Amino acid sequence: MTDITIALSKGRIFDDTAPLLKMAGIEALDDPEKSRKLILATNRANVRLVIVRASDVPTYVQYGAADIGIAGKDVLLEHGGTELYQPLDLNIARCRMMVAVPTGFDYESAVFQGARLRVATKYLQTAREHFADKGVHVDLIKLYGSMELAPLVGLADAIVDLVSTGNTLKANNLEAVEEIMPISSRLIINQAALKLKRETIQPILKAFSEAVEA
Ligand code: ATP
Ligand code: PRP
Repeated sequence: MTDITIALSKGRIFDDTAPLLKMAGIEALDDPEKSRKLILATNRANVRLVIVRASDVPTYVQYGAADIGIAGKDVLLEHGGTELYQPLDLNIARCRMMVAVPTGFDYESAVFQGARLRVATKYLQTAREHFADKGVHVDLIKLYGSMELAPLVGLADAIVDLVSTGNTLKANNLEAVEEIMPISSRLIINQAALKLKRETIQPILKAFSEAVEA
């Protein structure tokens, strides 16, 4: 049996993927939330998991350090998705990429009047494309997290961030004014591995698609 490495991040991706992996007959022998190990063995001798930052998953798969990965569409769009086979939307870690502003800020009028907006975000590519499509002039400010703070301290007029329940926006007196796109996580596969390890990868892919259907 060929060895297979699956890259994923701990937290919500691992939590949402674990049931799908289980349905595919794969169970981690350690809990990534409790263990400091970055390589986790599974009940299948030829399958191991590697625990990486969510935004690093496509890089591990692109270079073949992992054969398979699980990554959010947000992460894949920023990475560019080059050389990655993306056969399956797992429908997990669902949220929406949104534009948000301080409550009461008249975003529509600002856009209509052609104001140049300062937008803070971790998602530069997605934000750039969105505002370019709308013909809105923006100065993008790259942040690595806690985007919600930026408009509160005068760093930006608006943010582009992921929204699920809306609780984080609400707690910071912000409101969503535009949906950019729905987000969920996908299975990604290294293209060379798909060819060279087809006999091992295909059944895993099939089991994942059946688990998603179920
Ligand atoms: P990194 O650790 O690389 O900075 P991150 O902090 O965004 O990334 P997670 O918070 O674990 O990593 O999120 C992983 C993925 O889950 C994201 O890429 C996104 O697709 C999805 N996600 C993020 N926030 C939410 C949310 N509030 N609800 C549902 N899914 C979300
Ligand atoms: C994500 C996102 C928002 C929040 C939205 O952050 O960046 O801040 O979730 O979720 P909500 O609409 O349900 O409040 P996350 O919880 O992943 O924290 P992070 O910034 O550390 O990644």
